[in-house]
Parts: sequence; C-alpha cells; structure tokens
Amino acid sequence: MSKTDYDLLLAQAEAITSGEPDLIANLSNISALVYDQLEDVNWVGFYLTRASETLVLGPFQGKVACLRIAFGKGVCGTAAATRTTQLVRDVHEFPGHIACDSASNAEVVVPLVVDQQVVGVFDLDSPTVDRFTQHDADGLSKLGRFIESLNWSQLRWSENV
Ligand code: SME
Repeated sequence: MSKTDYDLLLAQAEAITSGEPDLIANLSNISALVYDQLEDVNWVGFYLTRASETLVLGPFQGKVACLRIAFGKGVCGTAAATRTTQLVRDVHEFPGHIACDSASNAEVVVPLVVDQQVVGVFDLDSPTVDRFTQHDADGLSKLGRFIESLNWSQLRWSENV
C-alpha cells in the first residue's frame, strides 16, 4: 500500500471547501474525499458535539453507524475526552471500543477543538489491523487543524439537541 500524500489531501480539502460557508456541506465532501483517496478504509466521517459531552453522528461515508457516543466511551469518546488523536492498531485491544461495523479492525480518531471546545471528532476505520501508522495519524491531525478552521459557528446554536 502506498504512503498517503497528506499535503495533497489537505490541498484537495482546501480546494473543495473554498468559498463554501456551510459546515455540513463541507464536512460531507471532506468525508467523501478522504474515503475516496485513502486505501483500505471502510468508514470515514464525523461525530459532532451536539449535547453536553455527547457526540452525535454527523456526515460520513461507510456503513450505518452508532448514533450517540458519550465523551470518554470508545475510541471516539476517548479522543474527545483527552483531546488527543487516537491511533489504534487493533480496536479489539482497545478497552471499551464500540463496534459499529464488525469489519473494522484499526482506527484513527482526531479530536476537533474550536475556541477551547471539543466540537466533534474525525473518525476513520479500516478492516486491516495495523493499517494506520504515525504518518497517517500526523497527516490526519494536520487535516483536523484545517477542519477546525471551517465555519463552526453554525453548529453552536444547536447544542443540546
Ligand atoms: N469504533 C468507534 C465508534 C464509531 S465507529 O467506528 C463509526 C469507537 O469506538 O468510538
């Protein structure tokens, strides 16, 4: 499998979101872009902080997924609670991992923090153990920093949904 060019992916993400202020439209296309460009992934998408310390399913590509994840639960909730990118080589070794799709074996979750608030997480799954390396975690975290620069003010009003 070839090493992903995250500088190119970032440039593509910037290009497809340029001039579009709608956050959901942009997150939808970013999930489609990353799902399409990365090899060997079976789920790419977002969970958004919609209620107090609760992540709710957002735009994604892949199979039907869990709807709500509390901060601190599973890989996504751990990324949200600790505000650190989670690189999990085998999800079955991760205590409390939430299995949405039994085909998923490796995962990266990048927390998204805007104005000191965790506004959501960016989640990627692969069917292959050890699919993600530190290169992927670093590149996806960099993409996360770009995603944080989008127009998140649109979502804040709908907290407590
Ligand atoms: N496996 C995740 C749940 C979300 S799905 O992978 C889409 C977790 O443990 O948080």
